[in-house]
Amino acid sequence: MLARSAIKNVGKTSSVFVAKRTKVSLPKLDWDFDALEPNISGQINELHYTKHHQTYVNGFNTAVEQLEDLNCQLKSDPSPTIAKKIVGVQQNLKFHGGGYTNHCLFWKNLAPESQGGGKPPGGALGESIKSQFGSLDNLVSLTNSKLAGVQGSGWAFIVKNLENGGKLDVVQTYNQDTLTGPLVPLVAIDAWEHAYYLQYQNRKVEYFKAIWNVINWAEASKRFDEAK
Ligand SMILES: [Fe+2]
Repeated sequence: MLARSAIKNVGKTSSVFVAKRTKVSLPKLDWDFDALEPNISGQINELHYTKHHQTYVNGFNTAVEQLEDLNCQLKSDPSPTIAKKIVGVQQNLKFHGGGYTNHCLFWKNLAPESQGGGKPPGGALGESIKSQFGSLDNLVSLTNSKLAGVQGSGWAFIVKNLENGGKLDVVQTYNQDTLTGPLVPLVAIDAWEHAYYLQYQNRKVEYFKAIWNVINWAEASKRFDEAK
């Protein structure tokens, strides 16, 4: 069975309909794995992208397929057994869908220093940061304190809150929980150990400090301007 939401092209050949499921895949990176050194090693980026992110891609695609099958079963057998299976798959969908989404944000909001990484934002985002936090350094300090507060695995996001007049905020989530609704992520920072341990071991504060050298503020500004 094919999920309606996952059907990209439905064509008609004679009396036969042909449906193709659209699956997610790894996004294309704008830089080479070693381009963020010395701030993030090439080895970390390669493993992070080809292994960890790929796992979320695969898990999300599998969960979508399983959910569609179970939804079909539910129509003929609306039993607690099927409902329980659906709840289990929904948890996988949340985890892997969040992991897929968060990492897509993450790669795009990183850039080598030679491509503008770490260059402070101007424009409307720069003005908002100055007006709300006094300086970019203050926003970075606040974000780093949220990152340091992650117990286990999680993320910190600099967001534009559309329910609060578009004001900026910093939000921390656990596991692969992503942001929904009015919170528009501008910068997503991965605080899972797989994001830094090979290079920084237990010194995660050093990773949180170094990553600002490769934050793509131009991408954050674009997200800020487009979020209405
Ligand atoms: Fe990650």
